[in-house]
Amino acid sequence: MNLRPTGFRIALLLIASFALAAPTGPRAEFMPWEEAAPIVASSAADALPQDIAGKKPQQLMDMWPDWVREQDKQVRERLAKGDEDSLVNLLLFGTSFTRQPRLAAEFFEKLRAGGDSDKMQAELQRAIAGRAHDMVVAMAAPQRNERIAFMRRLVVAKGFGFSTPQEKQKTALFLVQEFDRARAEFTGYRDEIRKAQAGGDQAQEMAVRARLFATRGVSLDTSWRPNMAIEDALRDLLAKGVLTRSSAQRLAVVGPGLDFVDKSEGYDFYPLQTIQPFALMDSALRLGLADREHVRVTSLDISERVNQHLARMRQRGAEGKPYNIQMLRETNVPWTAEAKKYWDSFADQIAKPAVAVQPPSNAGKLKTRAVRVPADLVLRVDAADLNAVYERLTLPASERYDVIIGTNIFVYYGPFEQSLVLANAAQMLRPGGVLLSNNLLPDTPSSGMESLGYVTTVYSERAEDGDQIFIYRKKR
Ligand SMILES: C[S@@+](CC[C@H](N)C(=O)[O-])C[C@H]1O[C@@H](n2cnc3c(N)ncnc32)[C@H](O)[C@@H]1O
Repeated sequence: MNLRPTGFRIALLLIASFALAAPTGPRAEFMPWEEAAPIVASSAADALPQDIAGKKPQQLMDMWPDWVREQDKQVRERLAKGDEDSLVNLLLFGTSFTRQPRLAAEFFEKLRAGGDSDKMQAELQRAIAGRAHDMVVAMAAPQRNERIAFMRRLVVAKGFGFSTPQEKQKTALFLVQEFDRARAEFTGYRDEIRKAQAGGDQAQEMAVRARLFATRGVSLDTSWRPNMAIEDALRDLLAKGVLTRSSAQRLAVVGPGLDFVDKSEGYDFYPLQTIQPFALMDSALRLGLADREHVRVTSLDISERVNQHLARMRQRGAEGKPYNIQMLRETNVPWTAEAKKYWDSFADQIAKPAVAVQPPSNAGKLKTRAVRVPADLVLRVDAADLNAVYERLTLPASERYDVIIGTNIFVYYGPFEQSLVLANAAQMLRPGGVLLSNNLLPDTPSSGMESLGYVTTVYSERAEDGDQIFIYRKKR
């Protein structure tokens, strides 16, 4: 075997290392005070962060550069807390470290049907403890499971260990406590929504939903579903003439996330993947908004894990390697015909069929498929580290985006921060370009964006299983 690299291979290696090391897009800059000032001035006092409310304009101007940097730092720290939520998702839904059944929606429905009785609660505690035990055993063993390896690092960083039975017991107890914490948080969110619903004011309910996770850890969860809602919204914009054919070649995704173990029904039997950049590219081609020769997608995310995943993906792309995406949906969910159609044709504009990873028997009843995105389209996705709340990319007019999307992300912020998102998006969009989000954002005239209403997509006949995509257009 000839192990000497040929000139061609050396060139590929150089391209690959360059792709990994070099920033793949323009740099991010913090929002300047001049742009923030009108937003602060027009925000209701109770919508402003405490340390800003009541300050005089001169004080605000002086403090802004440090304040905005400090906020950026704090948001990035929330990612670590979000990882703890992913730990709970893995504990509940994972099948890579245990043969025990997943504790997904069906299990909790049965629990509720049992009237949340002591017996049912005991069953839940037993099930959680069993899964926590298996997870600790998996974490303690040398293995190549990337999700378990990540969670092992997380619990070790928190001071837990695996050397003795006592240490393992303490670690398992921590996992159970994390589940209890997450459960209490979700009960709180549910109660908040119910309270808003009881008031009978739909606008108020939307406002509560729009900032439900404002103090929560920022997680990386993702699934295929919001991408269907984005495609519906784009189709609607095309029908209304807001977007025209070939008018959306430059696309951006704020916070594409990583499919680690999604919070609603996550799975962990296939490699980590990102979905949204390719889903958006696929939709733009399907609708004729973009074409294969010109389409480009930029990911804008604060997560080092997301950015590194994309850098590795690009590195492999530069070596001529494709990117595989695993798709799965539960067969016992009453999906709408539209959702099934979207799922069946996902990525058919940009990818070829690939071999799907087969789920283990305790993963439940699933339909699976996989697609392989060719290297040339992989390289159309680039990535920038950007905090969309406090930063923007400074782009020349010809490089501005036609469409920016951000789903399941602005819900992690309060109304003031959401107004900043609009102003930052306005700086990165071309006139007439649109920002699409499944969060209602505050009406902020000084942001330079106008609301065009929303489009509703239903995924299944289950209660509240859908999304509203709110549309904001950059004023001309
Ligand atoms: C819950 S995931 C959503 C993933 C995907 N958009 C979806 O809907 O499935 C949130 C993602 O947004 C990113 N994120 C959160 N706050 C952000 C911010 N201020 N700027 C950029 N990315 C952010 C996180 O790192 C993560 O990748």
